Amino acid sequence: MTLSKALRSISHTLSIAEIDDASTEAELLLCHVLGISTTQLYTETERALTSVEINNLQRLIQRRLLHEPVAYILRYCEFYGIAFYIDERALIPRPETETLVEKATEIYHHSPSAGSTIADIGTGSGALAISIALALPQAKIYATDISASALQVAEINCRRHQIDSQVELLQGNLLEPLPKPVDMIVANLPYVRDSELQALSPEIINFEPIIALGGGKNGLDKIQQLLEQIPGKLNHGGHFLLEIGQYQGEAVTSLISNHFPQASIELTPDLSGIDRVVKVGV
Ligand SMILES: C[S@@+](CC[C@H](N)C(=O)[O-])C[C@H]1O[C@@H](n2cnc3c(N)ncnc32)[C@H](O)[C@@H]1O
Repeated sequence: MTLSKALRSISHTLSIAEIDDASTEAELLLCHVLGISTTQLYTETERALTSVEINNLQRLIQRRLLHEPVAYILRYCEFYGIAFYIDERALIPRPETETLVEKATEIYHHSPSAGSTIADIGTGSGALAISIALALPQAKIYATDISASALQVAEINCRRHQIDSQVELLQGNLLEPLPKPVDMIVANLPYVRDSELQALSPEIINFEPIIALGGGKNGLDKIQQLLEQIPGKLNHGGHFLLEIGQYQGEAVTSLISNHFPQASIELTPDLSGIDRVVKVGV
C-alpha cells in the first residue's frame, strides 16, 4: 500500500466512525507511525508501507475507533504553540485555555502592581504553568495539583522544557501547598456540572481523569473553595484569573463579588465568543 492510499483509507475509516477532523487525525497517525513530516506525507505519496508499518497503523486506528483521544495515542499535544508530552494521567490541554496565558502575560507586563510570583492551580500536564514560564522568564511559578499522577506528567514536561528551577511543582489541595503569598493566581479548575458529566463525549469521559472534570452540582465547587482560600495567599494589589465554563460567567462574577466586594472583575470571551476567563484585581 502507498502513502497516498493509506491516507485516504485511514481518513475514510475514521470518518465513517464519525470522528471529527478525520483527515487531520489520519495525517497525524500516519506521520507518527512512519516518523515523517506532513510535508513528506504529501511529497512521497508513492512510498510503499512495510508490513510492520501497516500492523502498527492498524493497532493505533483500532485504539482511535475505541475513542481514545489522538493526543493520548501519540503521547503528544500542542498548547500555545509549544509541544507537550501527554498521557491519560493528565487532562489534554485545550486551545481555549491559551487565553489564560495571554491574560497572565498582559497583567505581568502592564499592571504596576504585578509581581514576580505566579501560581497555576490544578496544573495537570503543566502546559499552562510552562507556557507562562517560557513567556515570562523572570517570573517564579508554583504549579499545584491534588493528583500525584498528573504532577508526574507536569514533571516530564518541566524537564523537557528545562525549566525545573523556574517552575516548582507542589502536591495538595488548591492553594494550600503554596509556601508564601503570590502576586498572581491562574486556575483552570474542574467546572463540569455533575449532571453534565455523562453527556460528555466518550473521548473525554472514558479516557480523561475524572478529577480534572467534575466541579460538583453546579460546577463551581472548586472555584468556590479557591475563593475561600485566596485571602492570605494572594498579595495585596494582586490578580487572579479563572477559566470558566459556558454560562458560568454570571454565577462566578456574583460569587467573586460576595467574597471580594472591592474587586475589579472583567470577563473575556474565547475565540468562539463564549465568556471563558474571569480576571479579578483585588
Ligand atoms: C481542568 S484540569 C486543568 C489542567 C490544566 N491546568 C490545563 O488547563 O490543561 C483541572 C486540574 O485540577 C486538578 N484538581 C482537581 N481538584 C483539585 C484540588 N482540590 N486541588 C488542586 N488541584 C485539583 C485536577 O487534577 C486537574 O489536573
